[in-house]
Amino acid sequence: METARALWRLFLVGVLGCGGAPLAPAESLPREASAERSSASNTDAPWWQGAVFYEVYPRSFQDTDGDGIGDLPGITERLDYLEWLGVDAIWITPFYPSPQVDFGYDVSGYTDVDPTFGTLEDFDRLIAEAHGRHIRVIVDVVLNHSSDQHPWFVEARSGRDSPRRDWYVWSDPATGGGPPTNWASIFEPSAWTLDERSGQYYYHAFYPEQPDLNLRNPEVVSALEDVLRFWLERGVDGFRLDAVAHLFESIELEDNPLLDALRPGGDEEPLQEHVHTMFLPEGYRLLGRLRRLVDAYPGDRVLISEAYTEDAAGLLPFYDDGPTDGVHLPFNFLLMAPEALSAPRFRERIRDASETLQGRPTTWVLGNHDQPRIVDRFDHGGERLRVAKLLALMLLTLDGAPFLYYGDEIGMVTTEPQSIEDVRDPVGRRYWPENKGRDGERTPMQWDGTLHAGFTDGTPWLPIPTSAAGRNVKALRASPGSVLMFYRRALELRGASPVLRRGALTLLDVDPEVLAYRRQHEAETYVVLLNFADEPRTVSLEGVSEVLLDNVREPSRLETAAIQLAPYEAMLLR
Ligand code: NOJ
Repeated sequence: METARALWRLFLVGVLGCGGAPLAPAESLPREASAERSSASNTDAPWWQGAVFYEVYPRSFQDTDGDGIGDLPGITERLDYLEWLGVDAIWITPFYPSPQVDFGYDVSGYTDVDPTFGTLEDFDRLIAEAHGRHIRVIVDVVLNHSSDQHPWFVEARSGRDSPRRDWYVWSDPATGGGPPTNWASIFEPSAWTLDERSGQYYYHAFYPEQPDLNLRNPEVVSALEDVLRFWLERGVDGFRLDAVAHLFESIELEDNPLLDALRPGGDEEPLQEHVHTMFLPEGYRLLGRLRRLVDAYPGDRVLISEAYTEDAAGLLPFYDDGPTDGVHLPFNFLLMAPEALSAPRFRERIRDASETLQGRPTTWVLGNHDQPRIVDRFDHGGERLRVAKLLALMLLTLDGAPFLYYGDEIGMVTTEPQSIEDVRDPVGRRYWPENKGRDGERTPMQWDGTLHAGFTDGTPWLPIPTSAAGRNVKALRASPGSVLMFYRRALELRGASPVLRRGALTLLDVDPEVLAYRRQHEAETYVVLLNFADEPRTVSLEGVSEVLLDNVREPSRLETAAIQLAPYEAMLLR
């Protein structure tokens, strides 16, 4: 998985540059504020606190019209499955009109549905059907940039004196010619593209087809606020806010400092510290403003911000210091970083979150549409599915809102393109073969053992691996020991247990290779033991008498305090 890892690191590039933002140390919080936020055992907590979210990548979930691309009616069709699985909410990645250069993250119309995915009526039906099953629906909002085909950019590009020129970020060339600064894009060495007609450059943190919106322009902010209102009024339960670390860049056109390391992917360009282009304080303020807008609607709608940070301290400014500013739930990607299945590294990250966030609500994430599938990210000593269950138990028993990525519950694998001609994600073509792009983790959901895995009657937009013949929802539902049934049981236990949803978490030191923690709520205590080692371990534990869930053996009563764990064994105990 070397190549996939290279891409994964590419997305973490920004983390290296998170200097520049004033980070509030945890200790500086007023005592009352921390107590107020320490709502781990607060039963009046909003629905999203501790809820289980399931990410749906609509292109790949379920096709209903035979074009080989998933659609909104397809999601509606599969809601019964999601209800059976036991998730509380789904997050649907962009389905808006888009040229699909970045597969929907290049939006050319913010308040409509791309015909490939259906219609607004399909969306309304999806919301109604999901709500009928008590499943909330979160949608993505891309604030940082639009598509270069969006009418706003087409107009802005029409000339230097266009009334919308200032809706995007333009600059004259540097004095000696060439891009105004050395600022790098996430996907390519330069974040500036020359607009030949006007002789000016425009800035894009991602692909050139994704020009950055100028969020210093109040008209732009107001237009985006209207976008939020549009979807709130259609009944969404919240938003996942894309790429919020990039919202603002410095108005002083100064170069970012260069680092010694090279960008992953093989273009021989140095990495840079994004001090002028990421995590600017203006971004947090804008998020606070959006929070106020969302909070004015009834029903505890939630704002979830997407930014990769090096540590939990990097998340604090997203919450802001007041009880109502900042977003509700900044994505916490701390579990994404360890590249090895190492109990000490995971423990360190969980400890960081606990100590730094001090009870502020958080998320836990292991997979998404930008990272290789979780079963491929770690060595597993030939025990891929046992490790998949071990990671699932960790994700579903930590103290926050877990995010599942579609297909992880059946152990879907990363299926990389075989040749450059097959690559759909542009970054994979640019950096082939060192980095094959993100297609591998976006292949269609595997529903059954028929041709195309029950995803489509047409030709799927990405190939389905042959392993889908056995690794699919239908087959695994019929197999009691499967990874799918393990996820479902963990979700069932979590749903039924105030301890797992709301209990306080305490890390336990039982063995360096065994990640262990206690969850406690009122008089009830659960303990989680996760053996990250590829060899047996024995740990000693008092006060628990029952195994509720285990990835190696059947649940049972415990006869002794000395618990023998098989390699990669995961146990939930009471
Ligand atoms: C983060 C999204 O998850 C990713 O898929 C996308 O390419 C970038 N933001 C740009 O929108």
